[in-house]
Amino acid sequence: MKNDALPIEGIDYVELYVGNAKQASYFYKNGFGFTPVAYSGPETGVKDKTSYLMQQGDIRLLLTSSLVPDHPISRYVITHGDGVADVAMRVKDVDWTYKEALRRGAKGIQAPKILKDDHGTIRGAAIAAYGDTVHTFIERHDYRGIFAPGYTPFPGKEESVGLKHVDHVVANVEEGKMDYWVEFYGNVFGFTQLISFDDKDISTEYSALRSKVMRNPSGTVKFPINEPAAGKRKSQIQEYLDYFKGAGVQHLAISTEDLVGTVARLAERGIEFLRTPDSYYAELPKRVGGISERIDDLKRLGILVDKDEKGYMLQIFTKPLQDRPTLFFELIQRKGSESFGKGNFKALFQSIEAEQAKRGNL
Ligand code: FE2
Repeated sequence: MKNDALPIEGIDYVELYVGNAKQASYFYKNGFGFTPVAYSGPETGVKDKTSYLMQQGDIRLLLTSSLVPDHPISRYVITHGDGVADVAMRVKDVDWTYKEALRRGAKGIQAPKILKDDHGTIRGAAIAAYGDTVHTFIERHDYRGIFAPGYTPFPGKEESVGLKHVDHVVANVEEGKMDYWVEFYGNVFGFTQLISFDDKDISTEYSALRSKVMRNPSGTVKFPINEPAAGKRKSQIQEYLDYFKGAGVQHLAISTEDLVGTVARLAERGIEFLRTPDSYYAELPKRVGGISERIDDLKRLGILVDKDEKGYMLQIFTKPLQDRPTLFFELIQRKGSESFGKGNFKALFQSIEAEQAKRGNL
């Protein structure tokens, strides 16, 4: 790929630091249909933390808790609550990628290191991103084990509700910092800006935000970056920053090939979604034209629809995944459209604000 300054093959895994990885693994399994596939902890020779690798489609969530109080993972969880600590990217050559990233202005967190077991070799390194988030670079073409040295396969049957792929990972950063991080992904990774939304696009009567979407040249990684903007009331982004105590990942958007079926299964499993007012569906046929889904199904489940020149897309947002109103999932089905749901911002933000108001933060 020409002009690909720092080639990224894709997102390898997303690591969440959580208060209790064992219990969190039940939520992502029984709620969201992820299969626990690998485990590391004291039984596998790792003394200070446990990790559960959860898989569905090609999405890998790594849930990690520390076992001791004075530990970077414990400090992360005290400050931020449960959240995304690492958006790890698969690369061809870790040594080269790390050196090049630093040369282009990134801050190193972990110099390249080699991990080995009977199944082969993995190379990893890490750089700093927004807040306490990091990007691990991982090179695994010489490894045939379940995930990484120190991990053992987790017994059990496969779960799935049809989640396939990480479509995008969204950062919330402090007011005035969006362009700093846009430049960071531009300068360090050679990403380009796909689209931008200003506070006139993304505002309701009450709260506002600005957003720019950065993408790598091969299109395997998309990172929207949000910052709060001034409105009559507190922006949803500011509410996140207040609870998370700084910048961090706001949501993972996960694609499915049958959003209606997936959302119906998730609702049965007890997953809670944001509600959409009935009035949204009255206006829908006029706004998006012909679609193959039944409006009644979309209305019953609360699924949103948007379209652009290339086609349409279906999307829905979960309620927060932990007690703090911070990280959530978006579920998305693209039917040609490359949009980020601009036509839904108003309906969506009104439902987010309704939740914010319940928490006394609007
Ligand atoms: Fe999104």
